[in-house]
Amino acid sequence: MSTVNANLTYNYKVVRQFAIMTVVWGIVGMAMGVLIAAQLVWPSLNLDLPFTHFGRLRPLHTNAVIFGFGGSALFATSYYVVQRTCQARLISDGLAAFTFWGWQAIIVAAAITLPMGLTSSKEYAELEWPIDIAIAVVWVTYALVFFGTIMKRSTPHIYVANWFYGAFIITVAALHIGNNMALPATAFKSYSAYAGVTDAMMQWWYGHNAVGFFLTAGFLGMMYYFVPKQANRPVYSYRLSIVHFWALIATYVWAGGHHLHYSALPDWAQTAGMVMSLILLAPSWGGMINGMMTLSGAWHKLRTDPILRFLVVSLSFYGMSTFEGPMMSIKTVNALSHNTDWTIGHVHSGALGWVAMISIGAVYHLIPKLWGLQAMYSTALINVHFWLATVGTVLYIVAMWVNGIMQGLMWRAVNEDGTLTYSFVEALEASYPGYFVRFLGGVIFLSGMLIMAYNVYMTVRQKEAVAADNAAAQAA
Ligand code: HEM
Ligand code: HEM
Repeated sequence: MSTVNANLTYNYKVVRQFAIMTVVWGIVGMAMGVLIAAQLVWPSLNLDLPFTHFGRLRPLHTNAVIFGFGGSALFATSYYVVQRTCQARLISDGLAAFTFWGWQAIIVAAAITLPMGLTSSKEYAELEWPIDIAIAVVWVTYALVFFGTIMKRSTPHIYVANWFYGAFIITVAALHIGNNMALPATAFKSYSAYAGVTDAMMQWWYGHNAVGFFLTAGFLGMMYYFVPKQANRPVYSYRLSIVHFWALIATYVWAGGHHLHYSALPDWAQTAGMVMSLILLAPSWGGMINGMMTLSGAWHKLRTDPILRFLVVSLSFYGMSTFEGPMMSIKTVNALSHNTDWTIGHVHSGALGWVAMISIGAVYHLIPKLWGLQAMYSTALINVHFWLATVGTVLYIVAMWVNGIMQGLMWRAVNEDGTLTYSFVEALEASYPGYFVRFLGGVIFLSGMLIMAYNVYMTVRQKEAVAADNAAAQAA
């Protein structure tokens, strides 16, 4: 707990808990990523067991990184930012604690049920109905804590970071409840309430907005607080941030059709998804530029501050993946990229470059503040982590771009008589070098996370040592 003025204390306990779990789930989820990347190079690592099979561990990876790692980072930072910018303590310590334990229990339930093969089979919404109900309960409680705190704020206005966090919380609730409507058949098996192409449309309305709101809007909230704080500069343009907010949320929700190009979805709906995706480039880059330009007059800090480097490089990856996404949504480009490793490269330039890097930067900013210290245990180690993360991400995405474009071209190559030039297996064999480089990139990224865990542990221990010294001095 930390005191801001004589009368006001913030609830930092829940922020500390979520911040630590961000690092823990980051390591677990990325270790899973490295394992499944290794399975694609050395298939014998599937161990011939159903529980350790790629098909079951892949959703475990995505759930652990998105909801465990990303989710914990979003809870930690939103609870911190809403208190600091509203100058108000969270509305209820009990409800905040409930969201922490509830969310952790949900991730553990995912880690148990997914390897057992219990799945609804909807991507990023694989968890079965009892866990879905638990998610809805925890999420509504999160909304109560967040918006309740905004309502009791002692500042006259609501800082823009909270707008992004707020939109993320409301939209994820609507998406989760909308897409997971299902008829339970047994305790762990349910059937979607939607059929055929309607089911696909609901799924990708959900799937794309999981990207737009879970993996983007919430992290933009993070950006609007931590970039100015770490650079010690005001946001470049507050007006642009408001335009950015409304343009982004108004556009994102219409773009999901680009996941279903050349499918049974009506053609007009596919084209609408493509057009909205192209428009989305503008607000995305508006936000990226607003974050970057916040460094005007503070660029020199990048030389000495690796935390700021994490934050700024994350913005450049954000810019890159939000340029790539609209390009991939153009039907003719998608005809080449769809189902290839290009998509996987795009995903991880967003996931590692943007989501993971901004979360890591924010956690490094937070940890000393939460434990009442001046700085992390070692700035040199943060710098090492920065380079490992950057090199790991670049290796990963370059390998997937090369693989993806090669696969797309090989699959569509035809001989003069109309037969296929390459069999599927030939394209797969040609992909092995890329899979190995991706595995290497993953190992490098993961080793950076282990260094982070050590640095965090030493920082927290330092605090305990100071507290012990103070107690000893008082006793003497
Ligand atoms: C060490 C870091 C990581 C490694 C080695 C890794 C590896 C992998 C691999 C091998 C796949 C399966 C690809 C395929 O099916 O061909 C995958 C999928 C995926 N990963 Fe990661 N990953 C890492 C970090 C992350 C992070 C931090 C996130 C999110 C914040 C993430 C999100 C995803 C998503 C969403 C997919 C599914 C993509 C799709 O279906 O198109 N990954 N990852
Ligand atoms: C303007 C922004 C963006 C647009 C228009 C966009 C567009 C696209 C397109 C067209 C696809 C390929 C769909 C397919 O062929 O199946 C895709 C896949 C994906 N994108 Fe993006 N993207 C954007 C930003 C991002 C960001 C910032 C992230 C991550 C943080 C991200 C994560 C993903 C994921 C996870 C998938 C794979 C979905 C799946 O098939 O499982 N995207 N995106």
